[in-house]
Amino acid sequence: MFEEITAFSFPTRIVFGRGAVRRLPAALEETGVFKPLVVTDPGLRASPAFDAVVAALDGVSYEVFDRVHGNPVEDDVLESVALYRSAGCDGVIGLGGGSAIDVAKAIVVMARHEGALADLEAQAGGMDRMTGPYDPIIAVPTTAGTGSEVGRSSVITSHQLGRKIIIFSPWLMPKRAILDPELTVSLPPFLTAATGMDAFTHCLESLTCPTYHPLCDAIAIHGLELVIRYLERATRDGRDIEARGNMQVAAAMGAIAFQKDLGATHSLAHPLSTAFGLHHGLANALCLPAVMRFNLETAEPHYARLARMFDGARRGETDREAAARSVVEVENMIGRLGITRGLSNHGVPRESLEGLSVSAFDDSCHKTNIRPCTRRDLLALYEESWPA
Ligand SMILES: [Fe+2]
Repeated sequence: MFEEITAFSFPTRIVFGRGAVRRLPAALEETGVFKPLVVTDPGLRASPAFDAVVAALDGVSYEVFDRVHGNPVEDDVLESVALYRSAGCDGVIGLGGGSAIDVAKAIVVMARHEGALADLEAQAGGMDRMTGPYDPIIAVPTTAGTGSEVGRSSVITSHQLGRKIIIFSPWLMPKRAILDPELTVSLPPFLTAATGMDAFTHCLESLTCPTYHPLCDAIAIHGLELVIRYLERATRDGRDIEARGNMQVAAAMGAIAFQKDLGATHSLAHPLSTAFGLHHGLANALCLPAVMRFNLETAEPHYARLARMFDGARRGETDREAAARSVVEVENMIGRLGITRGLSNHGVPRESLEGLSVSAFDDSCHKTNIRPCTRRDLLALYEESWPA
């Protein structure tokens, strides 16, 4: 018992609350940044969240890169690194959803490394080639989903390779995560729902994956409870600050939990974004019920617990029955969030599923799924997730 020695750490300092964005200058000072590069996307550049950052940075010298794509591509990194170097920046502020924050992480790495991003790819042993510390990253999320603000990975699409590159290192962790619920109030209902389902999937896949990490398990369980309680509220009424704030916390908890690892849903979701531009959270929501059915017996105690989070314990209900009910509860929640089920309804042709399953099998997330999966299993999961 306990012969394998493990280490648990939760190192990102999180500053949370209404108006937390005004702590940006303090965060820069504490982390020794004199000239940050603010990294964001064109939509956010024109939003109140960007205005709030500009107001907070009054008197600070900074540069802005605002051309990050929804699913960030390698060119975003190359262009922003060039600006970072030419402007003499010494740290980044990632403002946005996971995309801007993921690019922020790649910038500080690529500002120091010669060669291509693909050289640092996690599944090719790139973690050992990332020798930080790098310049500080301060993450200011405007969605509540990816949790990239507390995560140690960055996902960037390489058009050259035709797939997503995942880089992963403890050096990629932001020094500060500033969670200000007011920055998320203008997020429209669809994005609120989709990003929230990403947070939910992080919590559930990390809870069920077999890596030993009881601290993360506890965080994942409470993250699930928060999503169940607040995601529908935040989706219905974007100005519900209590719901928005709790979803921001849940998203951070999901990403803290998935330092354990993830599962098959994420392997299925990644190629859907690369090939068809599906929003990552939407892709997870569309595939999650099929993966839950696939995992049902192996993950029974976890899923039974999940069912009871939705609707309490039911008299006479066995764990097996509760686990089966959890899938229905998740499907119903996805429906109430206004997400239309079926990959077929989101521009994914049936004849693409075979090729997608090859990419999904190449993706490393399924290797820690609670039930091992083959490439054919992944194809079957796509097929099950396809009809309307
Ligand atoms: Fe995710």
